[in-house]
Amino acid sequence: METGAAPLEASILGRATEIAERLVANIETVVHGKSEEIRLVVAALACGGHVLLEDVPGTAKTVLARAMAQSIKGATATRIQCTPDLQPTDVTGLSVYNQKEREFEFRPGPIFANVVLVDEINRAMPKTQSSLLESMAENQVTVDGVTRLLPQPFLLLATENPIEYEGTFPLPEAQLDRFFLRTALGYPHADDELKILNEQRHSHPLGHLRPVITLEEIDELRVGVQEVYVAPVIQRWIVDLVRATREVEDVSIGASVRGSLALERAVRAWALLHGRSYVVPEDVERLFDSVLVHRVVFRPAFLAEARKVGWEAAVDMFRERCLALAPRPQPQDFELTVLPR
Ligand SMILES: Nc1ncnc2c1ncn2[C@@H]1O[C@H](COP(=O)(O)OP(=O)(O)OP(=O)(O)O)[C@@H](O)[C@H]1O
Ligand SMILES: [Mg+2]
Repeated sequence: METGAAPLEASILGRATEIAERLVANIETVVHGKSEEIRLVVAALACGGHVLLEDVPGTAKTVLARAMAQSIKGATATRIQCTPDLQPTDVTGLSVYNQKEREFEFRPGPIFANVVLVDEINRAMPKTQSSLLESMAENQVTVDGVTRLLPQPFLLLATENPIEYEGTFPLPEAQLDRFFLRTALGYPHADDELKILNEQRHSHPLGHLRPVITLEEIDELRVGVQEVYVAPVIQRWIVDLVRATREVEDVSIGASVRGSLALERAVRAWALLHGRSYVVPEDVERLFDSVLVHRVVFRPAFLAEARKVGWEAAVDMFRERCLALAPRPQPQDFELTVLPR
Protein backbone atom coordinates (compact mmCIF):
# COMPACT_ATOMS: atom_id res chain seq x y z
CA MET A 1 0.00 0.00 0.00
CA GLU A 2 1.11 3.55 -0.66
CA THR A 3 2.31 5.53 2.33
CA GLY A 4 0.74 8.88 3.07
CA ALA A 5 3.93 10.70 2.08
CA ALA A 6 4.13 9.33 -1.45
CA PRO A 7 1.43 11.52 -3.08
CA LEU A 8 2.96 14.60 -1.42
CA GLU A 9 6.42 13.73 -2.76
CA ALA A 10 4.91 13.02 -6.15
CA SER A 11 3.29 16.43 -6.19
CA ILE A 12 6.51 18.16 -5.10
CA LEU A 13 8.31 16.43 -7.96
CA GLY A 14 5.54 17.18 -10.42
CA ARG A 15 5.57 20.88 -9.51
CA ALA A 16 9.36 21.05 -9.75
CA THR A 17 9.38 19.41 -13.18
CA GLU A 18 6.72 21.81 -14.40
CA ILE A 19 8.69 24.83 -13.13
CA ALA A 20 11.88 23.59 -14.81
CA GLU A 21 10.07 22.96 -18.09
CA ARG A 22 8.55 26.43 -18.04
CA LEU A 23 12.00 27.97 -17.54
CA VAL A 24 13.65 25.86 -20.26
CA ALA A 25 10.85 26.63 -22.73
CA ASN A 26 11.18 30.37 -22.12
CA ILE A 27 14.94 30.38 -22.68
CA GLU A 28 14.46 28.27 -25.79
CA THR A 29 12.48 31.08 -27.37
CA VAL A 30 15.73 33.08 -27.65
CA VAL A 31 18.49 30.45 -27.75
CA HIS A 32 17.80 27.97 -30.54
CA GLY A 33 18.89 24.38 -30.99
CA LYS A 34 20.63 24.20 -27.61
CA SER A 35 18.07 22.47 -25.50
CA GLU A 36 20.53 20.07 -23.80
CA GLU A 37 22.90 22.91 -22.89
CA ILE A 38 20.03 25.03 -21.54
CA ARG A 39 18.98 22.05 -19.41
CA LEU A 40 22.50 21.82 -18.02
CA VAL A 41 22.39 25.46 -16.92
CA VAL A 42 18.94 24.97 -15.38
CA ALA A 43 20.27 21.86 -13.60
CA ALA A 44 23.07 23.98 -12.11
CA LEU A 45 20.52 26.56 -10.94
CA ALA A 46 18.41 23.80 -9.40
CA CYS A 47 21.46 22.50 -7.50
CA GLY A 48 22.85 25.86 -6.43
CA GLY A 49 25.92 25.35 -8.64
CA HIS A 50 27.77 27.59 -11.07
CA VAL A 51 28.56 27.19 -14.74
CA LEU A 52 31.61 27.71 -16.92
CA LEU A 53 30.61 28.33 -20.52
CA GLU A 54 33.55 27.78 -22.75
CA ASP A 55 33.22 28.61 -26.39
CA VAL A 56 34.26 30.61 -29.37
CA PRO A 57 32.72 34.11 -29.80
CA GLY A 58 29.16 34.61 -30.97
CA THR A 59 27.61 31.38 -29.73
CA ALA A 60 24.89 32.92 -27.52
CA LYS A 61 26.74 32.67 -24.20
CA THR A 62 25.77 36.19 -23.17
CA VAL A 63 22.27 35.79 -24.58
CA LEU A 64 21.77 32.57 -22.58
CA ALA A 65 22.85 34.26 -19.34
CA ARG A 66 20.63 37.27 -19.97
CA ALA A 67 17.69 35.04 -20.91
CA MET A 68 18.10 33.15 -17.64
CA ALA A 69 18.10 36.37 -15.61
CA GLN A 70 15.13 37.81 -17.48
CA SER A 71 13.12 34.62 -17.01
CA ILE A 72 13.12 34.91 -13.21
CA LYS A 73 10.70 37.45 -11.80
CA GLY A 74 12.32 39.81 -9.32
CA ALA A 75 15.80 38.44 -9.95
CA THR A 76 18.63 40.92 -10.00
CA ALA A 77 21.16 40.44 -12.75
CA THR A 78 24.60 41.92 -13.30
CA ARG A 79 27.38 41.52 -15.78
CA ILE A 80 31.07 41.77 -15.05
CA GLN A 81 33.32 42.28 -18.02
CA CYS A 82 36.73 41.04 -16.98
CA THR A 83 39.84 42.98 -17.93
CA PRO A 84 43.42 42.70 -16.65
CA ASP A 85 42.97 45.76 -14.43
CA LEU A 86 39.71 44.64 -12.79
CA GLN A 87 40.31 44.74 -9.02
CA PRO A 88 38.74 42.33 -6.49
CA THR A 89 36.84 45.26 -4.96
CA ASP A 90 35.34 46.05 -8.39
CA VAL A 91 33.62 42.67 -8.00
CA THR A 92 32.89 42.46 -4.28
CA GLY A 93 32.27 46.12 -3.51
CA LEU A 94 34.01 48.22 -0.88
CA SER A 95 33.50 50.42 2.16
CA VAL A 96 33.43 54.14 1.47
CA TYR A 97 33.39 56.99 3.94
CA ASN A 98 30.09 58.82 4.22
CA GLN A 99 30.91 62.47 5.10
CA LYS A 100 27.39 63.25 6.33
CA GLU A 101 26.94 60.22 8.57
CA ARG A 102 30.63 60.24 9.49
CA GLU A 103 31.00 56.53 9.10
CA PHE A 104 32.02 53.92 6.58
CA GLU A 105 29.28 52.34 4.55
CA PHE A 106 29.44 49.30 2.30
CA ARG A 107 28.79 49.72 -1.41
CA PRO A 108 28.02 46.23 -2.75
CA GLY A 109 29.72 45.26 -6.00
CA PRO A 110 28.14 43.45 -8.97
CA ILE A 111 28.64 40.03 -7.37
CA PHE A 112 25.60 40.83 -5.16
CA ALA A 113 22.94 39.68 -7.63
CA ASN A 114 20.86 36.57 -8.32
CA VAL A 115 22.31 35.95 -11.75
CA VAL A 116 25.85 37.14 -12.38
CA LEU A 117 27.38 36.90 -15.81
CA VAL A 118 31.16 37.03 -15.66
CA ASP A 119 32.30 37.59 -19.20
CA GLU A 120 35.78 36.44 -20.23
CA ILE A 121 36.85 35.35 -16.77
CA ASN A 122 40.29 34.42 -18.11
CA ARG A 123 41.02 38.09 -18.78
CA ALA A 124 40.88 38.99 -15.07
CA MET A 125 44.10 38.90 -13.10
CA PRO A 126 44.60 35.95 -10.70
CA LYS A 127 43.83 38.05 -7.59
CA THR A 128 40.43 38.99 -8.98
CA GLN A 129 39.75 35.49 -10.29
CA SER A 130 40.40 33.99 -6.90
CA SER A 131 38.07 36.47 -5.23
CA LEU A 132 35.38 35.54 -7.76
CA LEU A 133 35.95 31.81 -7.30
CA GLU A 134 35.84 32.16 -3.55
CA SER A 135 32.56 34.03 -3.45
CA MET A 136 31.21 31.48 -5.88
CA ALA A 137 32.14 28.48 -3.77
CA GLU A 138 31.14 29.97 -0.45
CA ASN A 139 28.15 32.10 -1.41
CA GLN A 140 29.64 34.90 0.63
CA VAL A 141 32.07 37.78 0.37
CA THR A 142 34.48 39.13 2.96
CA VAL A 143 35.45 42.78 2.65
CA ASP A 144 37.37 44.68 5.35
CA GLY A 145 36.97 41.74 7.70
CA VAL A 146 33.17 41.66 7.44
CA THR A 147 31.51 38.64 5.82
CA ARG A 148 28.36 39.25 3.82
CA LEU A 149 26.07 36.60 2.40
CA LEU A 150 25.23 36.75 -1.29
CA PRO A 151 21.55 36.81 -2.28
CA GLN A 152 19.79 33.51 -2.94
CA PRO A 153 19.40 32.04 -5.48
CA PHE A 154 22.88 32.90 -6.69
CA LEU A 155 23.85 31.64 -10.13
CA LEU A 156 27.18 32.60 -11.61
CA LEU A 157 27.74 32.01 -15.32
CA ALA A 158 31.33 32.59 -16.35
CA THR A 159 32.36 32.66 -19.95
CA GLU A 160 35.77 31.80 -21.24
CA ASN A 161 36.95 32.13 -24.79
CA PRO A 162 39.32 29.24 -25.50
CA ILE A 163 40.83 30.66 -28.71
CA GLU A 164 42.19 33.83 -27.16
CA TYR A 165 45.35 33.32 -25.21
CA GLU A 166 47.13 36.63 -25.52
CA GLY A 167 46.76 38.81 -22.44
CA THR A 168 44.75 36.14 -20.61
CA PHE A 169 45.32 34.34 -17.33
CA PRO A 170 44.26 30.70 -17.56
CA LEU A 171 42.02 29.77 -14.64
CA PRO A 172 43.98 27.84 -12.00
CA GLU A 173 43.34 24.18 -12.79
CA ALA A 174 43.03 23.26 -9.15
CA GLN A 175 40.21 25.78 -8.69
CA LEU A 176 38.17 24.76 -11.69
CA ASP A 177 36.41 22.23 -9.52
CA ARG A 178 34.51 25.08 -7.91
CA PHE A 179 32.43 25.19 -11.07
CA PHE A 180 29.52 22.79 -10.80
CA LEU A 181 29.68 22.08 -14.50
CA ARG A 182 31.29 23.17 -17.71
CA THR A 183 29.64 23.21 -21.08
CA ALA A 184 30.05 24.67 -24.53
CA LEU A 185 27.21 25.99 -26.66
CA GLY A 186 28.67 25.51 -30.12
CA TYR A 187 27.29 26.71 -33.42
CA PRO A 188 23.61 26.14 -34.20
CA HIS A 189 22.45 24.02 -37.18
CA ALA A 190 21.91 25.82 -40.49
CA ASP A 191 18.10 25.84 -40.08
CA ASP A 192 18.39 27.38 -36.64
CA GLU A 193 20.90 29.92 -37.90
CA LEU A 194 18.47 30.94 -40.63
CA LYS A 195 15.70 31.27 -38.05
CA ILE A 196 18.00 33.52 -35.96
CA LEU A 197 18.61 35.81 -38.95
CA ASN A 198 14.89 36.26 -39.60
CA GLU A 199 14.02 36.66 -35.97
CA GLN A 200 16.52 39.46 -35.45
CA ARG A 201 15.57 41.46 -38.54
CA HIS A 202 13.91 44.21 -36.50
CA SER A 203 15.08 43.72 -32.94
CA HIS A 204 16.58 41.12 -30.65
CA PRO A 205 14.06 38.63 -29.17
CA LEU A 206 15.56 39.23 -25.71
CA GLY A 207 13.73 42.56 -25.78
CA HIS A 208 10.38 40.74 -25.51
CA LEU A 209 11.39 37.99 -23.09
CA ARG A 210 9.12 37.94 -20.03
CA PRO A 211 9.73 36.43 -16.59
CA VAL A 212 8.05 33.04 -16.20
CA ILE A 213 9.14 31.82 -12.78
CA THR A 214 9.49 33.43 -9.36
CA LEU A 215 12.31 33.30 -6.83
CA GLU A 216 10.07 31.15 -4.60
CA GLU A 217 9.58 28.68 -7.43
CA ILE A 218 13.35 28.22 -7.61
CA ASP A 219 13.20 27.06 -3.99
CA GLU A 220 10.49 24.57 -5.00
CA LEU A 221 12.68 23.39 -7.84
CA ARG A 222 15.56 22.84 -5.43
CA VAL A 223 13.39 20.88 -3.03
CA GLY A 224 12.18 18.78 -5.97
CA VAL A 225 15.77 17.84 -6.88
CA GLN A 226 16.38 16.67 -3.31
CA GLU A 227 13.39 14.33 -3.60
CA VAL A 228 14.63 12.50 -6.71
CA TYR A 229 15.52 8.89 -5.93
CA VAL A 230 19.03 7.56 -6.48
CA ALA A 231 19.31 3.78 -6.02
CA PRO A 232 22.16 2.78 -3.67
CA VAL A 233 23.90 0.88 -6.51
CA ILE A 234 23.93 4.04 -8.62
CA GLN A 235 25.19 6.10 -5.72
CA ARG A 236 28.00 3.61 -5.17
CA TRP A 237 28.76 3.64 -8.89
CA ILE A 238 29.03 7.45 -8.87
CA VAL A 239 31.63 7.22 -6.10
CA ASP A 240 33.52 4.46 -7.94
CA LEU A 241 33.46 6.41 -11.17
CA VAL A 242 34.86 9.54 -9.53
CA ARG A 243 37.52 7.44 -7.83
CA ALA A 244 38.36 5.94 -11.23
CA THR A 245 39.26 9.45 -12.51
CA ARG A 246 42.01 9.45 -9.85
CA GLU A 247 43.37 6.09 -10.94
CA VAL A 248 43.44 6.02 -14.72
CA GLU A 249 46.69 6.72 -16.54
CA ASP A 250 47.57 10.17 -17.85
CA VAL A 251 45.89 11.93 -14.92
CA SER A 252 47.89 13.88 -12.38
CA ILE A 253 44.95 14.95 -10.21
CA GLY A 254 41.55 13.28 -10.47
CA ALA A 255 38.15 14.71 -9.51
CA SER A 256 37.72 15.54 -5.82
CA VAL A 257 34.93 14.72 -3.39
CA ARG A 258 33.33 17.91 -4.68
CA GLY A 259 33.13 16.03 -7.96
CA SER A 260 31.19 13.14 -6.38
CA LEU A 261 28.85 15.54 -4.62
CA ALA A 262 28.26 17.47 -7.82
CA LEU A 263 27.69 14.40 -9.97
CA GLU A 264 25.14 12.96 -7.54
CA ARG A 265 23.24 16.24 -7.40
CA ALA A 266 23.48 16.90 -11.10
CA VAL A 267 22.05 13.51 -12.08
CA ARG A 268 19.09 14.06 -9.76
CA ALA A 269 18.39 17.41 -11.42
CA TRP A 270 18.87 15.81 -14.83
CA ALA A 271 16.34 13.08 -14.03
CA LEU A 272 13.85 15.71 -12.85
CA LEU A 273 14.39 17.77 -16.00
CA HIS A 274 13.49 14.69 -17.99
CA GLY A 275 10.30 14.07 -16.04
CA ARG A 276 11.62 11.18 -13.95
CA SER A 277 11.49 10.77 -10.18
CA TYR A 278 14.51 8.44 -10.22
CA VAL A 279 18.00 8.42 -11.69
CA VAL A 280 19.00 5.91 -14.39
CA PRO A 281 22.60 4.93 -15.30
CA GLU A 282 22.36 6.87 -18.59
CA ASP A 283 22.03 10.13 -16.57
CA VAL A 284 25.40 9.44 -14.95
CA GLU A 285 27.11 8.65 -18.24
CA ARG A 286 25.54 11.66 -19.92
CA LEU A 287 26.77 14.08 -17.25
CA PHE A 288 30.24 12.57 -16.82
CA ASP A 289 31.88 15.02 -19.27
CA SER A 290 30.13 18.21 -18.12
CA VAL A 291 30.46 17.57 -14.39
CA LEU A 292 33.79 15.75 -14.05
CA VAL A 293 36.22 16.43 -16.89
CA HIS A 294 37.04 20.07 -15.98
CA ARG A 295 37.94 18.91 -12.45
CA VAL A 296 40.67 16.60 -13.73
CA VAL A 297 44.24 17.75 -14.25
CA PHE A 298 45.69 15.71 -17.10
CA ARG A 299 49.33 14.83 -17.68
CA PRO A 300 51.15 16.32 -20.70
CA ALA A 301 50.94 12.93 -22.49
CA PHE A 302 47.12 13.15 -22.49
CA LEU A 303 47.18 16.74 -23.72
CA ALA A 304 49.58 15.80 -26.51
CA GLU A 305 47.22 12.98 -27.52
CA ALA A 306 44.27 15.39 -27.38
CA ARG A 307 46.06 17.75 -29.76
CA LYS A 308 46.49 14.86 -32.16
CA VAL A 309 43.04 13.25 -32.05
CA GLY A 310 40.99 16.24 -30.93
CA TRP A 311 39.67 17.08 -27.45
CA GLU A 312 36.36 15.27 -27.82
CA ALA A 313 37.95 11.99 -28.92
CA ALA A 314 40.46 12.25 -26.07
CA VAL A 315 37.66 12.81 -23.55
CA ASP A 316 35.75 9.82 -25.00
CA MET A 317 38.83 7.71 -24.44
CA PHE A 318 39.21 8.99 -20.87
CA ARG A 319 35.54 8.27 -20.09
CA GLU A 320 35.85 4.73 -21.51
CA ARG A 321 38.91 4.07 -19.35
CA CYS A 322 37.06 5.24 -16.24
CA LEU A 323 34.06 3.10 -17.17
CA ALA A 324 36.34 0.09 -17.59
CA LEU A 325 37.49 0.59 -13.99
CA ALA A 326 33.98 1.32 -12.70
CA PRO A 327 31.51 -0.44 -15.00
CA ARG A 328 27.88 0.61 -15.23
CA PRO A 329 25.65 -1.42 -12.87
CA GLN A 330 23.71 -4.20 -14.58
CA PRO A 331 19.97 -4.89 -14.14
CA GLN A 332 20.65 -7.76 -11.71
CA ASP A 333 22.57 -5.33 -9.45
CA PHE A 334 19.34 -3.44 -8.88
CA GLU A 335 17.36 -6.45 -7.73
CA LEU A 336 18.24 -6.10 -4.09
CA THR A 337 17.41 -2.40 -3.98
CA VAL A 338 14.03 -0.78 -3.52
CA LEU A 339 12.27 -0.22 -6.81
CA PRO A 340 11.91 3.42 -7.79
CA ARG A 341 8.54 5.02 -7.24
N1 LIG B 1 21.97 29.17 -30.77
C1 LIG B 1 21.62 30.46 -30.90
N2 LIG B 1 20.32 30.82 -30.76
C2 LIG B 1 19.94 32.11 -30.88
N3 LIG B 1 20.77 33.12 -31.15
C3 LIG B 1 22.07 32.82 -31.32
C4 LIG B 1 22.56 31.48 -31.20
N4 LIG B 1 23.90 31.51 -31.40
C5 LIG B 1 24.23 32.79 -31.63
N5 LIG B 1 23.14 33.59 -31.58
C6 LIG B 1 23.08 35.05 -31.79
O1 LIG B 1 24.40 35.49 -32.05
C7 LIG B 1 24.63 36.76 -31.47
C8 LIG B 1 25.84 36.71 -30.55
O2 LIG B 1 25.50 36.07 -29.33
P1 LIG B 1 26.21 36.43 -27.95
O3 LIG B 1 26.46 37.88 -27.87
O4 LIG B 1 25.43 35.80 -26.87
O5 LIG B 1 27.58 35.68 -28.16
P2 LIG B 1 28.70 35.30 -27.10
O6 LIG B 1 28.82 33.83 -27.13
O7 LIG B 1 28.43 35.96 -25.80
O8 LIG B 1 29.98 35.92 -27.80
P3 LIG B 1 31.31 36.56 -27.15
O9 LIG B 1 32.19 35.40 -26.75
O10 LIG B 1 31.91 37.34 -28.27
O11 LIG B 1 30.89 37.42 -26.01
C9 LIG B 1 23.34 37.12 -30.72
O12 LIG B 1 22.57 37.97 -31.53
C10 LIG B 1 22.65 35.80 -30.55
O13 LIG B 1 21.26 35.96 -30.48
MG1 LIG C 1 29.40 37.48 -24.74
